Amino acid sequence: MKIPDKVIETVRNAQNIVALTGAGMSVESGIAPFRGKGGLWERFDPEKYAHIDAFRKDPQKSWELFRLQIEEVTHAVPHTGYHALVTLERYGLKSVITQNVDGLHKKTGSRDVVELHGTLSKLRCDDCSSRKDTLEYMDQIYNNTVPKCPCGAYFRPDVVMFGEPLPTEAMQRALELCCESDLVLVIGTSSIVYPAASLPDIARNSGAVIVEINTSKTAITGHTAHHTIYGGAETVLTRLADELR
Ligand code: OAD
Repeated sequence: MKIPDKVIETVRNAQNIVALTGAGMSVESGIAPFRGKGGLWERFDPEKYAHIDAFRKDPQKSWELFRLQIEEVTHAVPHTGYHALVTLERYGLKSVITQNVDGLHKKTGSRDVVELHGTLSKLRCDDCSSRKDTLEYMDQIYNNTVPKCPCGAYFRPDVVMFGEPLPTEAMQRALELCCESDLVLVIGTSSIVYPAASLPDIARNSGAVIVEINTSKTAITGHTAHHTIYGGAETVLTRLADELR
């Protein structure tokens, strides 16, 4: 896999770069994506496990999925591609907008991370909305007990479930960042889940160049994306940072 000279030149000339990441960013850190072979939605029907109505009807069932996600994330270590994104800050990367709930960008030390779909590192009470660190409740989570808020209602991870809107402030910031940027790196996302999937188009319409990094063709390949680099996020980002040095 070679990064085209044109892409390296585009990155070198860019002043305001944003990275938009999805589940494919974390695959090489051992976290399963949602779609495709080995994806979470092959094993868990999202309507039955990850929809807010499903959670309210049967929290125990939804927690089967949350437990597995929390377990995976707790043990995950950011791969070198994450560190490459931190290196790219020296070359104009301003912010990372992520759909991922694994916290790996923050763990790596990226300086500005917008978590569009929330985070598994916090629990939120479904009734009074108070938040706690997930780590405080690991014993209960591992014992198959649905953690409860001191108010008596059930906790859910502080993530966006199907049937819920995105956090307004995070979406607003993401829109602003995309409109201000001159280059968006769209990494490891199928680009089919809205509203996050609208961001590359919005950025392109505001004048940004869109460079996609993915192992496969996606919904934006060939039109919204000016360039698509086929390869794993770890390999491509590490190579890109090396080329820029
Ligand atoms: P998906 O699972 O839909 O897509 C993962 C993408 O990553 C696909 O396009 C793969 O081809 C690509 N991919 C796989 N391995 C890769 C690798 N090593 N390097 C680069 N790319 C790779 O994940 P998302 O697009 O993030 O939302 O999904 C968006 C949202 O749908 C998620 O945030 C989640 C889900 O339902 C909620 O739960 C609200």
